[in-house]
Amino acid sequence: MSLSKKKILIGMTGGIACYKIPYLVRALKKADAEVMVVMTEAATKFITPLTMETVSGNPVAVGMFEGKTYIATRHIDLSEWADVNLIAPATANCIGKIASGISDDLLTTVLCASTTHTIFSPAMNVHMWENKITQRNIAMLKEVGYLFIDPTEGDMACNHYGVGRMPEPEDLFSVIQAYFNKNRQSLKNEHSSAKKKSLKNKKILITAGPTKEQIDPVRFISNNSSGKMGYALASVAVELGAEVTLISGPTSEEVPANLKLIQIKTTDELLKAVQKEYKKTDCLIMAAAPADIRPSQIAKSKIKKDNQKMEIALEPTTDILKEITKNKTVNSAKIIGFALETDNGLANAKKKLKDKKLDAIVLNQPSEKTAFESDTNEVTLLIPKRKAVHIPLDTKRNISIRLLDIISKLL
Ligand code: CTP
Repeated sequence: MSLSKKKILIGMTGGIACYKIPYLVRALKKADAEVMVVMTEAATKFITPLTMETVSGNPVAVGMFEGKTYIATRHIDLSEWADVNLIAPATANCIGKIASGISDDLLTTVLCASTTHTIFSPAMNVHMWENKITQRNIAMLKEVGYLFIDPTEGDMACNHYGVGRMPEPEDLFSVIQAYFNKNRQSLKNEHSSAKKKSLKNKKILITAGPTKEQIDPVRFISNNSSGKMGYALASVAVELGAEVTLISGPTSEEVPANLKLIQIKTTDELLKAVQKEYKKTDCLIMAAAPADIRPSQIAKSKIKKDNQKMEIALEPTTDILKEITKNKTVNSAKIIGFALETDNGLANAKKKLKDKKLDAIVLNQPSEKTAFESDTNEVTLLIPKRKAVHIPLDTKRNISIRLLDIISKLL
């Protein structure tokens, strides 16, 4: 999605996660947004204003009274300029100051004067994050309308493990996109859902990406699946406390931390991996797009072109879900499928739900904003004997949060 002419003010405070922000600014600029950066003095210790000036293409503001000539209303100009403010990384100190109405530097003064939304992306040590005063400040800011992106769990620069890591630049980018898609509610939801750890002690098996069926040593049959939806589900499932196994076809997606990854190439390999892992799981989510057909034979050498007529004999691959649900009992793991439909979406998804004996199916209808490569999606979740749940256009991460929230209640 283009962020054409959207004005985004990025406030950076002093944390090691500052190193991620140039990547975010580059992505925003690539999407045609205008970016202005305000840094606290502490942030400049982690990354230089020159770097931020270079990537944003705009002067970086740090101090209240810089330069030889003062423009007394600089904080007001900056606060009125932005369509949205993103404070990333946001330290406990910065959050505390805003919660207390303190404006003792340029950034906090700009935020105090701002009338648009401010999104905080906190980043700090796990104990600072869990500190009751930090949590009280965040709760209070949320109550008055500030938006928050929850920090993720993982290894920290301070050698601790826990919640407090700032999400990756692409996740922050998706949040900005979702913000301009008027999906602010999801930002509020994210905190409470992610905090619940609703998948604690659950084993979740997720498949993602396409499969590839070789025609000859250089050519193959595959599909446009990027794996983004399956990877987003896996990443959120980890955050919700699940023990996640991700079986992935060939994708260029970054593998989320703290899960078991099994890489496969063909539909047959996917089938075998699912059969093996399924026995140990509480829930299988088949977000993969296995190739439905494969050449009857793989040519040993590269097939030479023939200008007259060329044919490849094809055969169907196994329907993995049907194979798995053949011996399904009431005590079996829950099975969630996806339905990719271009026409008659609801009717086709309902048929797949029944034919494949699934516990739920996620209907996916590709469009410009929900295409394979897209970071956003719009889906409908169908569960037998229940009303369909439509999840409007949002980032694949937020869609995953909503889906896993519902799925966790089925387990
Ligand atoms: N699926 C599967 N095995 C296959 C193909 C698909 O288990 N060989 C799973 C997918 O992972 C998805 C669901 O079946 O969860 C529906 O996939 P989809 O591509 O929408 O439908 P198909 O069953 O392949 O049927 P069609 O292509 O005719 O729509």
